[in-house]
Amino acid sequence: MKIFLDSADINEIKTHQSSGFIDGVTTNPSLIAKSGHSILETIAEICTLIDGPVSAEVTASDFETMLTEGKKLAAIAPNVAVKVPLTEAGLKTCWALADIGTKVNVTLCFTAGQALLAAKAGASFISPFVGRLDDLGKNGMGLIDDIVTIYSNFDFDTEVLVASVRSAQHVVDAALLGAHVVTLPPKILSSLYKHPLTDGGLDAFMVDWKQTGQSIL
Ligand code: E4P
Repeated sequence: MKIFLDSADINEIKTHQSSGFIDGVTTNPSLIAKSGHSILETIAEICTLIDGPVSAEVTASDFETMLTEGKKLAAIAPNVAVKVPLTEAGLKTCWALADIGTKVNVTLCFTAGQALLAAKAGASFISPFVGRLDDLGKNGMGLIDDIVTIYSNFDFDTEVLVASVRSAQHVVDAALLGAHVVTLPPKILSSLYKHPLTDGGLDAFMVDWKQTGQSIL
C-alpha cells in the first residue's frame, strides 16, 4: 500500500520525505490556505521534492473554468495529479483531463455510487473521506470495503486513496481491505512508528546494555 502525505507545508514534507516512506502528496484548498503560500509555487516546490503523484485541487465550480485550472495545474510538473470534486462538473473535467493523459484524483467521495462514476470517468484516484463519515456516526471503512470490491469486480484501474484519515487504526484497516493508497496527516504518519511496548522495551534493553560496559563501535 502506498503512503501519501496530506500536507502543503514544505518543511513537514521535507522532514517526512527523508524517511523514505512517502510515495506522493495530497493537498487541498484548506491545506494551501493553512500554508500561507501561493498554490502554484507550493505545488511546484513539492514536485521538486517528491517523485510520486502530487495532488493539486481546482477551485472553480463550472466545467470550463475547472478544465482551464486543471490544465494549468497539470503543466506545473509531470507528476501533478489534478484534484477535482465529485460533482457533475468535476466528473466532466475528469473525463476531459484523463482523455489528454492527465492524472486525476476525484475528491470528496462519500458513497460507492460516486466512486463508480469516478472510475468510469477515468480517474487515476478516488478519495473517499473516511474520517468525515465516522464523524457523522457512519462507517467510513465500510465505504472503503464497498469501493475496493466494486473496483475489483470490474477491474477498474482507479486506485482507492483513503483520505480524511484520523488514526493509525484507519491505516491498518485500509491495508486489510486492500486499499491502494492512504494519505496521512503528518501526525498520523508519526503515530504509526509509536507503541508504548516498543519504547518501554527499548528502555529496558538499554539499561541492561549499559551494565555490560560494551560498545559495538
Ligand atoms: C485529502 O485528499 C483530503 O483532502 C484530506 O484527507 C481531508 O482530510 P480532513 O477530513 O481531515 O480535512
